[in-house]
Amino acid sequence: MAVERTLSIIKPDAVAKNVIGEILSRFEKAGLQIVAAKMQQLSREQAEGFYAEHKERPFFNDLVGFMTSGPVVIQVLEGENAIAQNRDLMGATNPKEAAAGTIRADFANSIDANAVHGSDSPESAAREIAYFFDSNEICARG
Ligand code: TYD
Ligand code: MG
Repeated sequence: MAVERTLSIIKPDAVAKNVIGEILSRFEKAGLQIVAAKMQQLSREQAEGFYAEHKERPFFNDLVGFMTSGPVVIQVLEGENAIAQNRDLMGATNPKEAAAGTIRADFANSIDANAVHGSDSPESAAREIAYFFDSNEICARG
């Protein structure tokens, strides 16, 4: 299995719940390394560009409004099979369908305020990492 990088975002609902550390800890306990991280208030333009693939969906405006409602914590995770591993740790998009013990089952209230984002493919991971980080902001850990 290959070492991969994936983009992870702790969304405004989870930041407001003060569970940044608990969520980062789950990544580390699963063997993923944090190789870049920052806290930021997204602008409307940034959130719209990030979620451009969803711009025709009925929930797009609410999603952008939610993602700009407070600060987020954005990180790059690195490890074996990191993209799928992070998706497994996150759980299903709808927390009501998320498996017990996943981040969304434990910290999310609803499908629209669902605690975390994670890239869903190597292509989206590459795009999303470059969207938020310059290459010199990503630190190889070895
Ligand atoms: P999506 O990429 O389908 O889910 P995921 O975050 O698991 O990759 O959707 C992106 C975000 O859009 C999702 O995290 C929350 C929001 N969303 C809604 O608000 N309502 C919906 O019906 C869906 C599918 C997503
Ligand atoms: Mg997605």
